[in-house]
Amino acid sequence: MTLIEEIMREFDSKSFTDQLIAWYEGEKRDLPWRENGDPYRVWVSEIMLQQTRVETVIPYFNNFIHQFPTIEALASADEEKVLKAWEGLGYYSRVRNLQSAVREVAASYGGKVPNTKEEISKLKGVGPYTAGAILSIAYNVPEPAVDGNVMRVLSRVLLVKEDIAKVKTRKLFEDAVRELISKEKPSEFNQGIMELGALICTPKSPGCLLCPVRDVCRAYAQGVQKELPIKQKKKQPRHVEIAAAVIRNEDGQVLIHRRGEDGLLAKLWEFPNHETLNVETQTEELQVFLKEQYKIDVKINKNPVQTVVHTFSHLVWNITVYEATLQNDAREQADVKFVSKKTIEAYPFPVSHQKIIEANV
Ligand code: ADE
Repeated sequence: MTLIEEIMREFDSKSFTDQLIAWYEGEKRDLPWRENGDPYRVWVSEIMLQQTRVETVIPYFNNFIHQFPTIEALASADEEKVLKAWEGLGYYSRVRNLQSAVREVAASYGGKVPNTKEEISKLKGVGPYTAGAILSIAYNVPEPAVDGNVMRVLSRVLLVKEDIAKVKTRKLFEDAVRELISKEKPSEFNQGIMELGALICTPKSPGCLLCPVRDVCRAYAQGVQKELPIKQKKKQPRHVEIAAAVIRNEDGQVLIHRRGEDGLLAKLWEFPNHETLNVETQTEELQVFLKEQYKIDVKINKNPVQTVVHTFSHLVWNITVYEATLQNDAREQADVKFVSKKTIEAYPFPVSHQKIIEANV
């Protein structure tokens, strides 16, 4: 017997699915992306909801849809405005991919989000989870949409002890969902599991006494719901020391720089900064870097004005901020600008550098 056959053996699928959907229909939250089934809105919401909590997403979603209400609006929008609307949400490649995929939909699919697994999966940033979420929620196609929350719920209900950090395990849960999903109500089924994971089957203290599928839950029957899911520990994030400069010209404007096309925080703006090797010689290292990179001479005040710690999923930035004044002329370029307190507002910055603006500009 295969693993999936083993898992599904003697599981009461019908009770699970019926109880889940009935509960969802009665208890679902009024969320802005549930107002209608517009595939574009579903798409935007699902991209935002990856790695970001519902409460955080709601105001961003409303603002984003207000600014870019349709596929056409987002396709023709200025990329910098789009990044600005995402500012603070993090994982900015999500929105760069979203805009290029939306442009592809406008150009190749007449502005209509495709409704087949084949086509939708070709779009940038649309992996198996997003494809399944859009197909099921917007088009009622019975496709699995398995993310970390869904794996938590199903690992408990089905008592699966496989490591959910592994790709193989996600595929196992997709197979389980293909067997369980309602062919009549795939949208309610998938959103029901998501809602159960958000409201009841939470990570640390699941509210089993309120759970609509408690009577079929294997983990509850054995009292092991808090031990599941099993997830291999990530390795510790790397810490890097960074020196950043707030460089003022004679008019009191500050120098900002746009990050490159690829990599972490691509195309966002920042204060000139450099990873340093030794905290003792940080200002000297920064001075040399500024000379080489921007051809500028600066006078750096050796007393830092701020430190900012920012944690990414794989990396911790420890930023020490120094004030500096310009000693020669610096030429503006497409990705190097002098901006005032007012004009800086139009530029998208990562959260760590927004903190530098707040404290120093
Ligand atoms: N998390 C991911 N997708 C979601 C959705 N459609 N509704 C609520 N939470 C979600």
